[in-house]
Amino acid sequence: MARKKPEGYLSAKESRKISRENRRITSELEKQRKRKKAPESEYLTQMRDIGNAVEFDNLHTYFFTDAGTVKSVDGVSFDIPIGKTVGVVGESGCGKSVTSLSLMQLLQRPQGQIVEGEIRLNLGDRAYDVAKMPYEKLQDLRGNFVSMIFQEPMTALNPVFRIGDQLEEVLELHNKDMSREEMKRRTIELLEMVGIANSEGVYKMFPHELSGGMRQRVVIAMALACNPRVIIADEPTTALDVTIQAQVLDLLRGLKEKINSSIMFITHDLGVIAEMADYVVVMYAGRVVEKGTTEEIFEHPAHPYTIGLMASKPVVGKQVEELYSIPGKVPNPIDMPNYCYFKDRCEMCLGKCEGEYPREISLSETHKVSCYRYDADETKGGNA
Ligand SMILES: Nc1ncnc2c1ncn2[C@@H]1O[C@H](COP(=O)(O)OP(=O)(O)OP(=O)(O)O)[C@@H](O)[C@H]1O
Ligand SMILES: [Mg+2]
Repeated sequence: MARKKPEGYLSAKESRKISRENRRITSELEKQRKRKKAPESEYLTQMRDIGNAVEFDNLHTYFFTDAGTVKSVDGVSFDIPIGKTVGVVGESGCGKSVTSLSLMQLLQRPQGQIVEGEIRLNLGDRAYDVAKMPYEKLQDLRGNFVSMIFQEPMTALNPVFRIGDQLEEVLELHNKDMSREEMKRRTIELLEMVGIANSEGVYKMFPHELSGGMRQRVVIAMALACNPRVIIADEPTTALDVTIQAQVLDLLRGLKEKINSSIMFITHDLGVIAEMADYVVVMYAGRVVEKGTTEEIFEHPAHPYTIGLMASKPVVGKQVEELYSIPGKVPNPIDMPNYCYFKDRCEMCLGKCEGEYPREISLSETHKVSCYRYDADETKGGNA
């Protein structure tokens, strides 16, 4: 990569060189994925555990920008078991959305590319590696097998089409031989399922005629139209007030039970995670720093970042002068250090934290943490 000037600026020549290099890398990767008739054997894979719906394995997703390569997701591994909810938490910009967009193959192209690792998708009778699947192939699975509830309902809906038409378009795409009447019946049913009382009326309305909470329900109805096995919810309740939020969460929980889907739930809100998730994944600067069952993470947080997160959430009935905030900021994703990414902000550092990025330590069957404080090599000896 081009060398930076002391002030951190790139010259026009350096920038051009980076662009040229980027184009070379991305067009090579794009060519692979855009092939029409790639043999199935290329992306056929095996689940490590057939009880999982999705397995992220050492996923690396980079954005090749003119300022350099942004390593948004840099070696992420975690599982989403069938019928369970996995909560993903972490600071803004730590790569939560990019991880989910990698699974949906909805990264901004051609800059955004999966450069390494596997995303194994369990289809029941076989498993596919999304990281190698051609774009065309995943298109058939998107919506009816994996589906995503987007964060902002106003941008996810098209303002110039009626709600009914937008929902029917989704149904039509995946059910080629459904009749018009059947489609309308199903659309009304979906609107009722997400708790819209005036479903016949809403069917004919435009997005701007609905309240924020109703729009979010429509977006959820759209995501659930084809009974997906895996639902990604990227901050589905951030734009809603707390009473509507509680209703939407109830709705998601109910639906999960009804169709036994798995949910990847992305949020900043630890209260929502505690209520919704069976497992929690804590991300920091493009990596998973800790993961475990919800109880393990909430009762025994191990990584200093998770401990900080827990300390920064308000607790009802507890008087505090000021809520804790973690000092400092996330490192620049273009120039990641080669030691623990959290070291510069950590208040619990030990001498050995100077070393390279810490490996993953098992605290239990399900509880894993990447932190030198638990590395038994030098301290206790033998629980790693
Ligand atoms: N299209 C893009 N081009 C370049 N960089 C990008 C692009 N999309 C995301 N990034 C970078 O990837 C990193 C991770 O972004 P991501 O959207 O996954 O964060 P997030 O964890 O979802 O944050 P938030 O909680 O704010 O939604 C950020 O540093 C972001 O700047
Ligand atoms: Mg996001």
